[in-house]
Formats: sequence, C-alpha cells, structure tokens
Amino acid sequence: MAAGKTLIAYETSGGATEEAAKKIADTLRSKYRLEVDLVDLKEQKVADLAQYQNVIIGGGVRVGKAYEKALKFLENNFANKKIAFFVSSAEAETPANYEKAKVKFVEDTLSKYPNINAVAIEAFGGHVKMIGKTITDNTDFSRVEAWAEELGKNSPNKEVGTKACALLCPVCCVEYVEVEFDFELDGVILHNVKALRCPSCKEERFTSEQCEVVTKRISDKVNYQRSNEGT
Ligand SMILES: Cc1cc2nc3c(=O)[nH]c(=O)nc-3n(C[C@H](O)[C@H](O)[C@H](O)COP(=O)(O)O)c2cc1C
Repeated sequence: MAAGKTLIAYETSGGATEEAAKKIADTLRSKYRLEVDLVDLKEQKVADLAQYQNVIIGGGVRVGKAYEKALKFLENNFANKKIAFFVSSAEAETPANYEKAKVKFVEDTLSKYPNINAVAIEAFGGHVKMIGKTITDNTDFSRVEAWAEELGKNSPNKEVGTKACALLCPVCCVEYVEVEFDFELDGVILHNVKALRCPSCKEERFTSEQCEVVTKRISDKVNYQRSNEGT
C-alpha cells in the first residue's frame, strides 16, 4: 500500500466480508496509522475515488462467483492506485481447497480486469447463517489480520521526515534511491528537483519533505514571474 488514504469497498450478504473488511480497517488504522474509509457497496456509493491512494476490494462468493457489486466496482479506473482484492468463500476454508478457491474466485476473477495489477490478493473462509443460526463458520480472522499487517508493512506512511535509505518501494520491496531531475508543472520548470526512485520498477515519488520543497520552489518561481510581469 502507498502513503495516503485507503478505501475498503466491500459487498457482503451474510456478514463475513464485512467482518473481514472491519478487521483490515482496524489493523491498518491502529498499527500503521493509515486513514481508512469503509464503504459497504450495497448501502453507499464511493463519493470520490480520486482521493484514495490504496483501494481494497472485498466480496463474498455464492454459487461459484464473487458478488456482483464487488465485481462492478473492479471496473473503475484505478490508475496510479495500489489495489488489493479478497473474497470470503466457504471453499477457501481448508488447506486442500484453499489454493483452488484462490485461483477460481480471485485470480480468475482479476484476469478479467487486465488494467488491475493487484499488489495483494487473498481468499478467506466465510460463514453460512440461516434464520440467525450459524450452519458453518470457516472464518479465521487471525489470517485476515496477518494479511492486513502485510499490507500495512508495505505502506511507507511512516516515511515523513525519514531518510530515503529507510524507504522501500511497496510494490518491489526494494529500497528507493534519491535522484535529481528537471521537473515541470503547468509550464513551470524546476531544475535539480530531488525525489525517490525505485531502482526496479522506476516509479518515482516525493517524500513529504521533498513535496514541500517543490511546492515552495514552484510558488516562489510563479510569484517571481508575476512580479516581473508587473514591472
Ligand atoms: C446460497 C449460498 C451459496 C454459496 N455458494 C458458495 C460457493 O459457490 N462457493 C463457496 O466457496 N462458498 C459458497 N457459499 C459460502 C459463502 O461464500 C459464505 O457464506 C461467505 O461467508 C459469503 O460471504 P458474506 O458472508 O460476506 O456474504 C455460499 C453460501 C450460500 C448461503
């Protein structure tokens, strides 16, 4: 996961996916200090997807398929966001069935959305309740919590003010290196701008400190240009 806001959008019928979504949210908030919004796709719409850097999508499985609203949500444009996807399924409960369930309900599902390159996927057990009575319960929230911890560990949210050498690319798990380049924003060009680059995937990002420096340099330059225009 990346620094910034996280959305967990889920669809549930029997409640297992909601319980998993809440466990993930609690873990990311309490252990990794991430800002997390939970959206039940049956009840609410996602107000502004653009505000999220990380999106975790979850859905239950019935009759061999993940729930429709969760699938529909996968059609969104997630460019530049870190995506994770999980399902709750009775078939994911035992070691014998787990791999099959993960392939069938998670990997095969995501293969229909080629624009999504998920950073993490998982199949958790679910439960079946009828008239308030639990018929089967294959949930294991310690597994859900462990998955959330992996997501949290890969979040560079704690980078603010720390050195570049302490930061890992959340996709490649490789240390970022500091680079300098010319940077252009709305026609304003800055030379020797410092940023971080992953040596593996080449993705670049600013630390909060670097972002502040760039913002100040742009505003100084714009103000300078404006004051010269007036003379
Ligand atoms: C009518 C029905 C059909 C189901 N079909 C499947 C299935 O095909 N494969 C599976 O792994 N689990 C199946 N399950 C179990 C669900 O995956 C389990 O109840 C899970 O908790 C659903 O997620 P939810 O509780 O968030 O709705 C089914 C459950 C019900 C009640």
